[in-house]
Amino acid sequence: MTTILERAENPGRVQGEAMAVQHPELAGKVAVVTGACRGIGARFAAGLAVRGVHVIGADIDETRMTAMASALAAEVSTAAGSVARGSVMGARVDVRDAGEQESLARLAVERFGRLDFWVNNAGIFPEAPVIDIPAEQISATLAVNVEGVLFGAQAAARQMRAGGVIVNMASVAAVRVRRGRAAYCSSKAAVQHLTECLAVELGDAGIRVNAIAPGFVDTEMTRWVQDDPAALQKALDTVPLHRLGSPEEIVGPLLFLLSDSARYVTGHTLAVDGGSRHV
Ligand SMILES: NC(=O)c1ccc[n+]([C@@H]2O[C@H](COP(=O)([O-])OP(=O)(O)OC[C@H]3O[C@@H](n4cnc5c(N)ncnc54)[C@H](O)[C@@H]3O)[C@@H](O)[C@H]2O)c1
Repeated sequence: MTTILERAENPGRVQGEAMAVQHPELAGKVAVVTGACRGIGARFAAGLAVRGVHVIGADIDETRMTAMASALAAEVSTAAGSVARGSVMGARVDVRDAGEQESLARLAVERFGRLDFWVNNAGIFPEAPVIDIPAEQISATLAVNVEGVLFGAQAAARQMRAGGVIVNMASVAAVRVRRGRAAYCSSKAAVQHLTECLAVELGDAGIRVNAIAPGFVDTEMTRWVQDDPAALQKALDTVPLHRLGSPEEIVGPLLFLLSDSARYVTGHTLAVDGGSRHV
């Protein structure tokens, strides 16, 4: 039997999505996922497409997004399963630009005739001691992480004529302070509250709006922690489940929030953090 320390030293990675249910009602729907050229967003796109959803993955890094869309399309075409397969196409978007998000939402409708799901996943995670945070860092973080979410929700809501679901990416950092990350923490707290504001107003149009609040997930965004044994240990000390999450482990919660199983759930932030919001 491994000890707690051994588990912490070897956080491991949960591969695959065996734990995620199928949600056949998602097949044939159309989704936009921002920040999809890597990390959690790429796994969201794959997890939706293998369940029959037509996905537009959009990112500011257009070259990488195009390559990822091809890789995901190949993955989806060879995935096992009985549900009709969906598709993945790549697009460019800078979420800071309301006009670009409008064009992205229109692209979904022009291409597939409808828009059902919108996932505001793009985000940045800059660092600076609170007393020295440059004004540009605050502006940039709020522009991507908060304005980007609002512009995305506005663009999506204007095209979701038959209702729909919007999911925003918050963070455990919305409710737990992370030293050196004041701009990020505040931006994610804003996302959590914005999710509630959007849910109240967009409920009139049959649109549900929820958020996911991950803890430490194994992506490029947390590479700094994974590459530094002391930082990793410190991070794991705040995780009751004693390991980082994998991007695949965020997919099941997304599917739930998009699915009919959550049809009476709106304005909620779902923590997917191994319990770290309690530590
Ligand atoms: N990884 C974690 O531990 C963790 C924890 C909590 C919350 N989150 C949140 O989950 C989301 C995804 O995180 P990740 O770990 O996959 O991050 P990541 O850094 O691997 O990916 C973020 C993606 O967003 C894109 N992006 C950045 N600015 C953009 C812009 N202006 N327009 C369009 N795209 C832009 C990047 O190019 C990148 O592909 C983020 O919102 C992040 O804040 C992540």
